Amino acid sequence: MITKLYQEAKQCLVAAGVDSIEFDLRVIFEECVGKDWWFSTKPPSEEQAKKINEMLRKRAHREPLQYILGSWDFGELSFAVGPGVFIPRPETEILVLAGLEALKNVQRPVVFDLCSGSGCVGIAMGKKRPDSTVYSIEKSKEAFKYLEENIRLHALKNVMPFNEDIFSFSQVLTADIIVANPPYIKTAEIAELQKEVLFEPRLALDGGEDGLVFYKEIIKSYSHRLEFGGCFAFEVGAQQAEDVSALLKKAGFKTRQIKDLNGIHRVVFAC
Ligand SMILES: C[S@@+](CC[C@H](N)C(=O)[O-])C[C@H]1O[C@@H](n2cnc3c(N)ncnc32)[C@H](O)[C@@H]1O
Repeated sequence: MITKLYQEAKQCLVAAGVDSIEFDLRVIFEECVGKDWWFSTKPPSEEQAKKINEMLRKRAHREPLQYILGSWDFGELSFAVGPGVFIPRPETEILVLAGLEALKNVQRPVVFDLCSGSGCVGIAMGKKRPDSTVYSIEKSKEAFKYLEENIRLHALKNVMPFNEDIFSFSQVLTADIIVANPPYIKTAEIAELQKEVLFEPRLALDGGEDGLVFYKEIIKSYSHRLEFGGCFAFEVGAQQAEDVSALLKKAGFKTRQIKDLNGIHRVVFAC
C-alpha cells in the first residue's frame, strides 16, 4: 500500500536529517505516482516504487530536491536545473520585480544579467519585456549549458547568453539596468552551510573574505556601462544591504533597499 511506502520513506529521510520532509515526500510521490497519489488505494507499480526509491536514495544523501527533479519553478516559469548550476531561490523574484519596475517607462531597454546561472533573472525579465534585449553573462561552463537550455525552453530570441567572466566581458555595450545576484557568502562561512547547499557550485557561493568582492568589482567595472539614468539592482545577503548601499553611495549613486517576505533587506537598487 502507498501509506506503507510513505511511512518507510519518511523514516528514511528522518534518519538522514532532512528538513522539509513532508514537502519533499509530497513532491516526490506526485512526480512518481501522479497528483492524486494520496487517494490511491492500490500499491504503486514496480516501476513507480523503483523511481521513488531512487529519488529517496539521492535525497537521503542530502542531494537537493531540485537537482533530483531536474527542474524548478521561479515565479511563473520553470527552469531546468541540476548539478553544476545554482538553484533559483524565491527571494530572487524580488530582484526581477524591482528590475521590471525600473524599466516601466523605458522603451526597448537593454538589460545586463550578470552572473546568470540558470538564467532565471534575465529570462524572467526578457519574457515579461519582449521589447528588451537581455545580455546574460555566466562564467561556469556547466551553468552555461543550463542557461542555454532554459533560453531554448522559453523560446526567447531577446536573451543573449555569453559564457564569459563578467570582469572581462568583451562586448562594447551599455545598459539601462544591470541586475545581478552574484556570489555573496563569506568564504569562511561556506563550510557551515546546509549540506544541500554544498552540492551547489562553490563558484556560485563564494563572495570572498567579506562576501562583498563581486559588488565592489561590479560597481568599479560596470558603472560606466550604464546609460544616463541607468540603474543597478543587486540581490544581497542578509545584513549586507547597508554595506552594499555604502559602496554604491560612494560611487555617486542614490540607493533604495527592498525587503523580502521575511523582512530582510534583499535587494539594493541604485540610480
Ligand atoms: C548566486 S549564483 C546566481 C545565479 C542566478 N543569477 C540566480 O539568481 O539564480 C551566482 C552565479 O555567478 C556565477 N559566477 C561566479 N563568478 C563569475 C564571474 N566572474 N563571471 C560570471 N559569472 C560568475 C556563478 O557560476 C553562478 O552561476
